[in-house]
Amino acid sequence: MTSETKPLVVETREGLARALAVAPKPRAVVMTMGGLHAAHGGLMTIARDLVGAEGHVTTTIFVNPLQFAATEDLGKYPRTFDADVAMCAQRSVDLVFAPTPDVMYPNGDAAVTVDPGSLGQLYEGVARPTHFRGVLTVVAKFLQLLQPDFAVFGEKDYQQLTLIRQMVADLDIPTQIVGGPIGREESGLAMSTRNKYLSPVAREVAARIPVAIAAGQAGAAGGTQACIDATLEVLHAPAAVSVEVEYVAVTDPLMRPAPESGEARLILTVIVDGTRLLDNAPVQLGPSAESGARSSTGDDGTE
Ligand code: PAF
Repeated sequence: MTSETKPLVVETREGLARALAVAPKPRAVVMTMGGLHAAHGGLMTIARDLVGAEGHVTTTIFVNPLQFAATEDLGKYPRTFDADVAMCAQRSVDLVFAPTPDVMYPNGDAAVTVDPGSLGQLYEGVARPTHFRGVLTVVAKFLQLLQPDFAVFGEKDYQQLTLIRQMVADLDIPTQIVGGPIGREESGLAMSTRNKYLSPVAREVAARIPVAIAAGQAGAAGGTQACIDATLEVLHAPAAVSVEVEYVAVTDPLMRPAPESGEARLILTVIVDGTRLLDNAPVQLGPSAESGARSSTGDDGTE
């Protein structure tokens, strides 16, 4: 499908099986919880590019109760189904699978779930200890139901993406996981469905998160602690609404402990006026290869 045509929308397992029985290959999926925005659209475009005009793209829309704790925002999570389907049409999605919780969990609570391992308890897992168990379980279920060649996930949820990659490797799931770049608003704020919760003032304050990340990237030449300190300095500046830093950390690209120098990832979660916002970016720890090369040749950089 290449021009804008309304995708087929199915809500049941039977409807999905019928649609997939005639769906061409290769196939890609973009899993979402709805509340779609331009960054989701970008992931759908990546999915289309991966499978080509003759391939098949599915978007799932499912607010997965298993990944929300009782105290979290499951009930008020934005639900914008008609607009979501319209976006899928614009991005030449062939099929929208939008099951209800009963369809996904016909036996009620899942008794057997996917254990995210130790990484699931760090960073996001500290405040949300059951979150990744819920995410990995539903992602595994969608991969089983859809059997896609590719599944595209945004890098904004970097820990989620890392854990999904780990899961498909460890469980021998034959789907290629593809990361899509973080979509950003004009201010640089990472796009998120939860940005809808921000008041105009809170949104302005939240826009300092990408500034803090840029400061962290600049500070990374001095090592991990310098990177974190530079990030925190921006985040801790006085603000018109509450800013609570949940964590700022530097890891290696696979979210293991950070190396002394070289490629790493700066990750953070900040609660701005009650809304949890995640962001991350690559950082280069230690002196850059360029400055290292200069100093090793005695170049003082004045030429
Ligand atoms: O990133 C999300 O929107 C969700 O965690 C996902 C991957 C769709 C699973 O519910």
